[in-house]
Amino acid sequence: MTRVIYPGTFDPITFGHINILEKACNIFDEVILAVAHDTGKQTGFSLEERFMLCEQATAHLPNVKVSTFEGLFVDYAKAMECRIMIRGMRAVSDFEYELSLALTNKKLSPEIETIFLVPSLKYMYLSSSMIRQLATLGGPLGDFVPPVVADAMKLKYGKTK
Ligand code: COA
Repeated sequence: MTRVIYPGTFDPITFGHINILEKACNIFDEVILAVAHDTGKQTGFSLEERFMLCEQATAHLPNVKVSTFEGLFVDYAKAMECRIMIRGMRAVSDFEYELSLALTNKKLSPEIETIFLVPSLKYMYLSSSMIRQLATLGGPLGDFVPPVVADAMKLKYGKTK
């Protein structure tokens, strides 16, 4: 059985993340969506809120298990007996950061491998910060996030559309 971990901030989870998850689910037996506590980012949603939204947004994917982790990814991966990290690669602009993350993890724990999946073209441009800005300005969210996430964002950011 091949278990992989897809870590991220997921603030919030978008159709782009779900697209990566669906691809991973077609390749691997079990995909752990790991919502990170320590990302160096100021998040709009709390860890618990991000976890709940990820659970609800991935309920249609039976081989996805949602969890949270604190501290280093490599320690979490070891504890979960997993050697493979999945990351999405949207564009050249992602490459430098993703390479640095993959190499840092490899330095910390040489047995960890990073596998990059490319999202479908229609999701290439999506990012959580763009969607947060859209919510703040009262823009429509339906093309970018599942309804449960759109509803939570409307409540959080106080705009309706
Ligand atoms: N579709 C849509 N958006 C995508 C995407 C996709 N397929 N893939 C990435 N993104 C976006 C995210 O929405 C996010 O956008 P934002 O910056 O506008 O919010 C951005 O790309 C990257 O976010 P994400 O994929 O959530 O990763 P991250 O860079 O926030 O988090 C961790 C990376 C969690 C893996 C990393 O911080 C970590 O491992 N933390 C634990 C501590 C650790 O071990 N650090 C590394 C060694 S020091």
